[in-house]
Amino acid sequence: MKKVLKWIGITLGSLTGLILIVGIVMVTIGNSHLNKTYDFPPSNITIPTDAASIEYGKHRAEALCQGCHGVALGGIDQWFNAGPIGTVDSANLTSGEGGFGREATSDEDYVRAIRHGIGLDGKPIFMPAVESTSYLSDEDLGAIIAYVKSVPPVNHVTKGHNFTPLAKILFVLGQLPKLPVETVSHEVHVTAPEAGATMEYGEYMVNTNDCRACHGPNLNGSKSPDPTATWISPNLTPGGELAFWTEEEFINTFRTGITPSGHQLSDNMPWKDYRNFYDDELKAIWLYLQSLPKLEQYTE
Ligand code: HEC
Ligand code: HEC
Repeated sequence: MKKVLKWIGITLGSLTGLILIVGIVMVTIGNSHLNKTYDFPPSNITIPTDAASIEYGKHRAEALCQGCHGVALGGIDQWFNAGPIGTVDSANLTSGEGGFGREATSDEDYVRAIRHGIGLDGKPIFMPAVESTSYLSDEDLGAIIAYVKSVPPVNHVTKGHNFTPLAKILFVLGQLPKLPVETVSHEVHVTAPEAGATMEYGEYMVNTNDCRACHGPNLNGSKSPDPTATWISPNLTPGGELAFWTEEEFINTFRTGITPSGHQLSDNMPWKDYRNFYDDELKAIWLYLQSLPKLEQYTE
Protein backbone atom coordinates (compact mmCIF):
# COMPACT_ATOMS: atom_id res chain seq x y z
CA MET A 1 0.00 0.00 0.00
CA LYS A 2 2.73 2.36 1.06
CA LYS A 3 4.61 1.54 -2.15
CA VAL A 4 1.56 2.38 -4.28
CA LEU A 5 1.14 5.70 -2.48
CA LYS A 6 4.78 6.41 -2.99
CA TRP A 7 4.49 5.79 -6.75
CA ILE A 8 1.39 7.95 -6.98
CA GLY A 9 3.33 10.60 -5.12
CA ILE A 10 6.28 10.37 -7.47
CA THR A 11 4.03 10.47 -10.55
CA LEU A 12 2.08 13.46 -9.28
CA GLY A 13 5.30 15.12 -8.24
CA SER A 14 6.90 14.71 -11.63
CA LEU A 15 3.71 15.79 -13.41
CA THR A 16 3.60 18.95 -11.35
CA GLY A 17 7.27 19.44 -12.11
CA LEU A 18 6.67 19.00 -15.82
CA ILE A 19 3.75 21.43 -15.86
CA LEU A 20 5.87 23.92 -13.96
CA ILE A 21 8.72 23.59 -16.45
CA VAL A 22 6.39 23.96 -19.45
CA GLY A 23 4.85 26.98 -17.73
CA ILE A 24 8.23 28.58 -17.10
CA VAL A 25 9.29 27.97 -20.71
CA MET A 26 6.11 29.59 -21.98
CA VAL A 27 6.48 32.59 -19.69
CA THR A 28 10.05 32.96 -20.94
CA ILE A 29 8.88 32.85 -24.57
CA GLY A 30 6.15 35.39 -23.72
CA ASN A 31 8.71 37.68 -22.12
CA SER A 32 11.00 37.43 -25.12
CA HIS A 33 8.16 38.76 -27.31
CA LEU A 34 7.36 41.58 -24.89
CA ASN A 35 10.99 42.57 -24.35
CA LYS A 36 12.18 42.39 -27.93
CA THR A 37 13.35 45.77 -29.19
CA TYR A 38 12.56 47.03 -32.68
CA ASP A 39 13.94 49.69 -34.90
CA PHE A 40 12.31 51.18 -38.00
CA PRO A 41 13.74 53.69 -40.45
CA PRO A 42 12.58 57.26 -39.74
CA SER A 43 9.42 58.31 -41.55
CA ASN A 44 10.56 61.91 -42.10
CA ILE A 45 6.92 62.96 -41.83
CA THR A 46 6.55 66.73 -41.67
CA ILE A 47 4.46 67.75 -38.69
CA PRO A 48 2.36 70.73 -39.80
CA THR A 49 2.08 73.84 -37.65
CA ASP A 50 -0.81 75.70 -39.31
CA ALA A 51 -4.13 76.06 -37.52
CA ALA A 52 -6.16 74.26 -40.21
CA SER A 53 -4.03 71.10 -40.00
CA ILE A 54 -4.13 71.09 -36.20
CA GLU A 55 -7.91 71.48 -36.35
CA TYR A 56 -8.12 68.58 -38.79
CA GLY A 57 -5.85 66.51 -36.51
CA LYS A 58 -8.26 67.24 -33.67
CA HIS A 59 -11.17 66.06 -35.79
CA ARG A 60 -9.43 62.75 -36.46
CA ALA A 61 -8.23 62.35 -32.86
CA GLU A 62 -11.75 62.91 -31.53
CA ALA A 63 -12.96 59.91 -33.47
CA LEU A 64 -9.89 57.74 -33.06
CA CYS A 65 -7.85 58.57 -29.95
CA GLN A 66 -10.14 60.06 -27.30
CA GLY A 67 -12.19 56.91 -26.77
CA CYS A 68 -9.14 55.16 -25.33
CA HIS A 69 -6.92 58.04 -24.14
CA GLY A 70 -9.67 60.24 -22.66
CA VAL A 71 -11.07 63.54 -23.89
CA ALA A 72 -8.07 65.52 -22.56
CA LEU A 73 -5.71 62.72 -23.80
CA GLY A 74 -4.46 62.33 -20.22
CA GLY A 75 -4.66 58.52 -20.27
CA ILE A 76 -7.04 56.13 -18.51
CA ASP A 77 -5.96 53.96 -15.58
CA GLN A 78 -6.79 50.29 -16.09
CA TRP A 79 -8.17 50.93 -19.54
CA PHE A 80 -8.08 47.14 -19.68
CA ASN A 81 -8.39 45.09 -16.53
CA ALA A 82 -8.80 41.35 -16.54
CA GLY A 83 -7.84 40.24 -13.03
CA PRO A 84 -5.80 37.09 -13.71
CA ILE A 85 -4.41 38.39 -17.01
CA GLY A 86 -3.21 41.82 -15.94
CA THR A 87 -3.88 45.46 -16.59
CA VAL A 88 -3.14 48.03 -19.27
CA ASP A 89 -3.31 51.78 -18.67
CA SER A 90 -3.73 53.84 -21.81
CA ALA A 91 -0.94 56.39 -22.01
CA ASN A 92 -1.06 60.05 -21.07
CA LEU A 93 -0.25 61.65 -24.44
CA THR A 94 0.18 65.22 -23.20
CA SER A 95 3.33 67.05 -22.12
CA GLY A 96 2.27 67.01 -18.46
CA GLU A 97 3.90 64.93 -15.74
CA GLY A 98 3.92 61.27 -16.77
CA GLY A 99 2.97 62.25 -20.32
CA PHE A 100 4.37 60.84 -23.55
CA GLY A 101 4.76 64.40 -24.82
CA ARG A 102 7.18 65.16 -21.99
CA GLU A 103 9.31 62.07 -22.53
CA ALA A 104 9.36 61.98 -26.33
CA THR A 105 12.50 63.50 -27.79
CA SER A 106 11.42 63.70 -31.43
CA ASP A 107 8.37 63.53 -33.67
CA GLU A 108 9.58 60.11 -34.80
CA ASP A 109 8.84 58.82 -31.29
CA TYR A 110 5.16 59.52 -31.98
CA VAL A 111 5.35 57.87 -35.38
CA ARG A 112 7.02 54.76 -33.96
CA ALA A 113 4.27 54.36 -31.35
CA ILE A 114 1.28 55.15 -33.57
CA ARG A 115 2.39 53.57 -36.85
CA HIS A 116 4.57 50.71 -35.62
CA GLY A 117 3.38 49.93 -32.08
CA ILE A 118 6.63 50.43 -30.21
CA GLY A 119 7.32 52.60 -27.19
CA LEU A 120 10.16 54.98 -26.36
CA ASP A 121 12.31 52.03 -25.30
CA GLY A 122 11.78 50.33 -28.67
CA LYS A 123 9.69 47.58 -27.07
CA PRO A 124 6.16 46.59 -28.14
CA ILE A 125 3.24 48.54 -26.73
CA PHE A 126 -0.14 46.94 -26.28
CA MET A 127 -2.20 49.48 -28.19
CA PRO A 128 -4.62 47.35 -30.22
CA ALA A 129 -5.57 50.36 -32.37
CA VAL A 130 -2.19 50.21 -34.13
CA GLU A 131 -3.99 47.83 -36.52
CA SER A 132 -5.87 50.98 -37.64
CA THR A 133 -3.42 53.78 -36.93
CA SER A 134 -0.70 52.06 -38.98
CA TYR A 135 -2.90 52.73 -42.03
CA LEU A 136 -2.97 56.50 -41.47
CA SER A 137 -1.43 58.45 -44.35
CA ASP A 138 1.67 60.53 -43.66
CA GLU A 139 -0.49 63.62 -43.95
CA ASP A 140 -3.21 62.46 -41.54
CA LEU A 141 -0.71 61.07 -39.07
CA GLY A 142 1.22 64.35 -39.20
CA ALA A 143 -1.95 66.34 -38.47
CA ILE A 144 -2.89 64.06 -35.56
CA ILE A 145 0.59 64.36 -34.06
CA ALA A 146 0.46 68.15 -34.48
CA TYR A 147 -2.81 68.19 -32.57
CA VAL A 148 -1.63 65.82 -29.83
CA LYS A 149 1.42 68.04 -29.30
CA SER A 150 -0.81 71.10 -29.00
CA VAL A 151 -3.14 69.91 -26.23
CA PRO A 152 -2.80 71.39 -22.71
CA PRO A 153 -0.61 69.34 -20.36
CA VAL A 154 -2.30 66.89 -17.99
CA ASN A 155 -0.34 65.63 -14.97
CA HIS A 156 -1.09 61.93 -14.72
CA VAL A 157 1.41 59.13 -14.36
CA THR A 158 0.21 55.97 -16.13
CA LYS A 159 1.71 52.53 -15.75
CA GLY A 160 1.56 51.04 -19.25
CA HIS A 161 0.95 47.31 -19.48
CA ASN A 162 1.42 44.83 -16.73
CA PHE A 163 0.86 41.21 -17.73
CA THR A 164 0.80 38.26 -15.34
CA PRO A 165 2.62 34.96 -16.03
CA LEU A 166 -0.80 33.48 -16.96
CA ALA A 167 -1.22 36.18 -19.62
CA LYS A 168 2.17 35.27 -21.07
CA ILE A 169 1.19 31.60 -21.24
CA LEU A 170 -2.16 32.42 -22.89
CA PHE A 171 -0.31 34.71 -25.26
CA VAL A 172 2.09 31.94 -26.34
CA LEU A 173 -0.87 29.56 -26.73
CA GLY A 174 -2.50 32.11 -29.05
CA GLN A 175 -5.39 32.76 -26.68
CA LEU A 176 -4.68 36.49 -26.43
CA PRO A 177 -4.37 38.92 -29.34
CA LYS A 178 -0.88 39.21 -30.81
CA LEU A 179 1.26 42.27 -30.19
CA PRO A 180 0.43 44.91 -32.81
CA VAL A 181 4.10 45.30 -33.78
CA GLU A 182 4.06 41.63 -34.83
CA THR A 183 1.00 41.94 -37.07
CA VAL A 184 0.94 45.33 -38.81
CA SER A 185 2.60 45.96 -42.19
CA HIS A 186 5.12 48.68 -41.19
CA GLU A 187 4.82 50.27 -44.62
CA VAL A 188 6.82 53.44 -44.42
CA HIS A 189 4.84 55.83 -46.59
CA VAL A 190 1.13 55.44 -46.64
CA THR A 191 -1.00 57.53 -48.97
CA ALA A 192 -4.72 58.10 -48.60
CA PRO A 193 -7.16 58.43 -51.48
CA GLU A 194 -8.33 62.00 -51.93
CA ALA A 195 -10.84 62.94 -49.22
CA GLY A 196 -14.44 62.99 -50.41
CA ALA A 197 -17.65 61.00 -50.64
CA THR A 198 -16.13 58.09 -52.54
CA MET A 199 -16.03 54.35 -51.92
CA GLU A 200 -12.22 54.41 -51.90
CA TYR A 201 -12.09 57.08 -49.23
CA GLY A 202 -14.74 55.17 -47.29
CA GLU A 203 -12.51 52.11 -47.24
CA TYR A 204 -9.65 54.24 -45.93
CA MET A 205 -11.93 55.68 -43.21
CA VAL A 206 -13.08 52.20 -42.18
CA ASN A 207 -9.49 50.95 -42.06
CA THR A 208 -8.23 53.89 -40.02
CA ASN A 209 -11.10 54.19 -37.54
CA ASP A 210 -11.00 50.82 -35.86
CA CYS A 211 -14.26 49.53 -37.39
CA ARG A 212 -12.69 46.16 -38.20
CA ALA A 213 -11.36 45.73 -34.67
CA CYS A 214 -14.95 45.31 -33.50
CA HIS A 215 -16.93 44.40 -36.64
CA GLY A 216 -14.42 41.83 -37.86
CA PRO A 217 -11.88 41.74 -40.70
CA ASN A 218 -14.72 41.28 -43.23
CA LEU A 219 -17.12 43.60 -41.37
CA ASN A 220 -19.79 40.92 -41.00
CA GLY A 221 -19.69 41.11 -37.21
CA SER A 222 -17.30 39.72 -34.65
CA LYS A 223 -16.95 38.91 -31.01
CA SER A 224 -15.57 41.70 -28.88
CA PRO A 225 -11.80 42.23 -29.09
CA ASP A 226 -11.91 42.55 -25.30
CA PRO A 227 -11.65 38.99 -23.92
CA THR A 228 -13.59 40.09 -20.81
CA ALA A 229 -16.66 41.18 -22.84
CA THR A 230 -19.26 38.83 -24.33
CA TRP A 231 -21.02 40.83 -27.04
CA ILE A 232 -21.03 40.06 -30.74
CA SER A 233 -21.20 43.07 -33.05
CA PRO A 234 -23.63 43.36 -35.98
CA ASN A 235 -22.98 42.68 -39.64
CA LEU A 236 -22.23 45.88 -41.60
CA THR A 237 -22.24 44.22 -45.05
CA PRO A 238 -25.41 44.14 -47.19
CA GLY A 239 -26.12 40.78 -45.54
CA GLY A 240 -27.10 42.67 -42.37
CA GLU A 241 -29.67 45.25 -41.34
CA LEU A 242 -27.87 48.04 -43.24
CA ALA A 243 -29.25 46.59 -46.48
CA PHE A 244 -32.58 48.17 -45.50
CA TRP A 245 -31.23 51.59 -44.53
CA THR A 246 -30.87 54.73 -46.62
CA GLU A 247 -27.74 56.86 -46.64
CA GLU A 248 -29.59 59.51 -44.65
CA GLU A 249 -30.62 56.98 -42.01
CA PHE A 250 -27.04 55.74 -41.79
CA ILE A 251 -25.78 59.29 -41.17
CA ASN A 252 -28.54 59.88 -38.60
CA THR A 253 -27.57 56.72 -36.74
CA PHE A 254 -24.08 58.15 -36.22
CA ARG A 255 -25.38 61.55 -35.18
CA THR A 256 -28.02 60.29 -32.74
CA GLY A 257 -27.02 56.74 -31.74
CA ILE A 258 -30.48 55.55 -32.74
CA THR A 259 -30.90 53.14 -35.66
CA PRO A 260 -33.79 53.42 -38.18
CA SER A 261 -35.64 50.68 -36.30
CA GLY A 262 -35.50 52.83 -33.15
CA HIS A 263 -32.79 50.79 -31.41
CA GLN A 264 -30.54 52.86 -29.12
CA LEU A 265 -26.93 51.80 -29.71
CA SER A 266 -25.08 50.84 -26.56
CA ASP A 267 -21.76 52.40 -25.61
CA ASN A 268 -20.04 49.25 -26.92
CA MET A 269 -20.40 51.02 -30.26
CA PRO A 270 -18.38 54.25 -29.82
CA TRP A 271 -20.88 56.29 -31.84
CA LYS A 272 -20.35 59.32 -29.57
CA ASP A 273 -16.70 59.42 -30.68
CA TYR A 274 -17.80 59.16 -34.29
CA ARG A 275 -20.68 61.58 -34.18
CA ASN A 276 -18.65 64.52 -35.50
CA PHE A 277 -17.54 62.77 -38.67
CA TYR A 278 -18.16 65.13 -41.59
CA ASP A 279 -21.14 64.29 -43.83
CA ASP A 280 -18.76 63.40 -46.65
CA GLU A 281 -16.83 61.03 -44.40
CA LEU A 282 -20.02 59.20 -43.42
CA LYS A 283 -21.23 59.16 -47.03
CA ALA A 284 -17.90 57.63 -48.03
CA ILE A 285 -18.16 54.96 -45.31
CA TRP A 286 -21.74 54.25 -46.39
CA LEU A 287 -20.71 53.83 -50.05
CA TYR A 288 -17.93 51.49 -49.05
CA LEU A 289 -20.13 49.35 -46.78
CA GLN A 290 -22.75 49.11 -49.55
CA SER A 291 -20.10 47.90 -51.97
CA LEU A 292 -19.07 44.95 -49.80
CA PRO A 293 -20.03 41.39 -50.68
CA LYS A 294 -23.18 40.26 -48.89
CA LEU A 295 -22.03 38.11 -45.98
CA GLU A 296 -23.90 36.27 -43.25
CA GLN A 297 -23.79 37.57 -39.70
CA TYR A 298 -20.76 36.20 -37.81
CA THR A 299 -21.72 33.72 -35.11
CA GLU A 300 -19.54 31.83 -32.66
C1 HEC B 1 -8.33 50.92 -28.63
C2 HEC B 1 -7.69 51.87 -27.71
C3 HEC B 1 -6.71 52.88 -28.22
C4 HEC B 1 -6.88 53.75 -29.28
C5 HEC B 1 -8.07 53.85 -30.21
C6 HEC B 1 -5.68 54.55 -29.32
N1 HEC B 1 -4.80 54.17 -28.32
FE1 HEC B 1 -2.92 54.90 -28.02
N2 HEC B 1 -2.62 53.53 -26.57
C7 HEC B 1 -3.60 52.70 -26.05
C8 HEC B 1 -3.04 51.94 -24.96
C9 HEC B 1 -3.78 50.91 -24.12
C10 HEC B 1 -1.70 52.35 -24.82
C11 HEC B 1 -0.67 51.83 -23.81
C12 HEC B 1 -0.01 50.61 -24.36
C13 HEC B 1 1.03 50.00 -23.46
O1 HEC B 1 1.44 50.66 -22.50
O2 HEC B 1 1.45 48.89 -23.76
C14 HEC B 1 -1.47 53.34 -25.86
C15 HEC B 1 -0.24 53.97 -26.11
C16 HEC B 1 -0.06 55.03 -26.97
C17 HEC B 1 1.18 55.71 -27.18
C18 HEC B 1 2.55 55.31 -26.62
C19 HEC B 1 2.78 55.78 -25.26
C20 HEC B 1 4.06 55.25 -24.67
O3 HEC B 1 4.29 55.56 -23.51
O4 HEC B 1 4.81 54.54 -25.33
C21 HEC B 1 0.95 56.75 -28.04
C22 HEC B 1 1.92 57.79 -28.54
C23 HEC B 1 -0.45 56.67 -28.40
N3 HEC B 1 -1.03 55.62 -27.75
C24 HEC B 1 -1.10 57.55 -29.25
C25 HEC B 1 -2.39 57.34 -29.75
C26 HEC B 1 -3.01 58.19 -30.75
C27 HEC B 1 -2.43 59.48 -31.28
C28 HEC B 1 -4.22 57.63 -31.04
C29 HEC B 1 -5.23 58.08 -32.07
C30 HEC B 1 -4.70 58.24 -33.42
C31 HEC B 1 -4.36 56.43 -30.21
N4 HEC B 1 -3.22 56.30 -29.46
C32 HEC B 1 -5.45 55.57 -30.24
C33 HEC B 1 -4.89 52.56 -26.50
C34 HEC B 1 -5.42 53.17 -27.62
C1 HEC C 1 -15.33 49.21 -29.79
C2 HEC C 1 -16.09 48.41 -30.73
C3 HEC C 1 -16.69 49.04 -31.97
C4 HEC C 1 -16.08 49.88 -32.87
C5 HEC C 1 -14.65 50.40 -32.84
C6 HEC C 1 -17.05 50.12 -33.89
N1 HEC C 1 -18.21 49.49 -33.63
FE1 HEC C 1 -19.97 49.68 -34.65
N2 HEC C 1 -20.92 48.58 -33.24
C7 HEC C 1 -20.31 47.92 -32.18
C8 HEC C 1 -21.33 47.21 -31.42
C9 HEC C 1 -21.08 46.34 -30.20
C10 HEC C 1 -22.56 47.47 -32.05
C11 HEC C 1 -23.94 47.01 -31.59
C12 HEC C 1 -24.42 48.01 -30.55
C13 HEC C 1 -25.82 47.81 -30.09
O1 HEC C 1 -26.63 47.22 -30.82
O2 HEC C 1 -26.13 48.28 -29.00
C14 HEC C 1 -22.27 48.32 -33.20
C15 HEC C 1 -23.22 48.81 -34.08
C16 HEC C 1 -22.94 49.49 -35.24
C17 HEC C 1 -23.93 49.89 -36.23
C18 HEC C 1 -25.43 49.59 -36.15
C19 HEC C 1 -25.68 48.33 -36.94
C20 HEC C 1 -27.00 47.71 -36.76
O3 HEC C 1 -27.29 46.74 -37.51
O4 HEC C 1 -27.77 48.13 -35.88
C21 HEC C 1 -23.27 50.51 -37.24
C22 HEC C 1 -23.86 51.09 -38.51
C23 HEC C 1 -21.86 50.50 -36.89
N3 HEC C 1 -21.71 49.89 -35.67
C24 HEC C 1 -20.86 50.99 -37.70
C25 HEC C 1 -19.52 51.12 -37.30
C26 HEC C 1 -18.50 51.78 -38.09
C27 HEC C 1 -18.66 52.32 -39.49
C28 HEC C 1 -17.36 51.78 -37.32
C29 HEC C 1 -16.03 52.45 -37.61
C30 HEC C 1 -16.10 53.87 -37.98
C31 HEC C 1 -17.69 51.10 -36.07
N4 HEC C 1 -18.99 50.71 -36.10
C32 HEC C 1 -16.79 50.90 -35.03
C33 HEC C 1 -18.97 47.98 -31.84
C34 HEC C 1 -18.04 48.80 -32.45
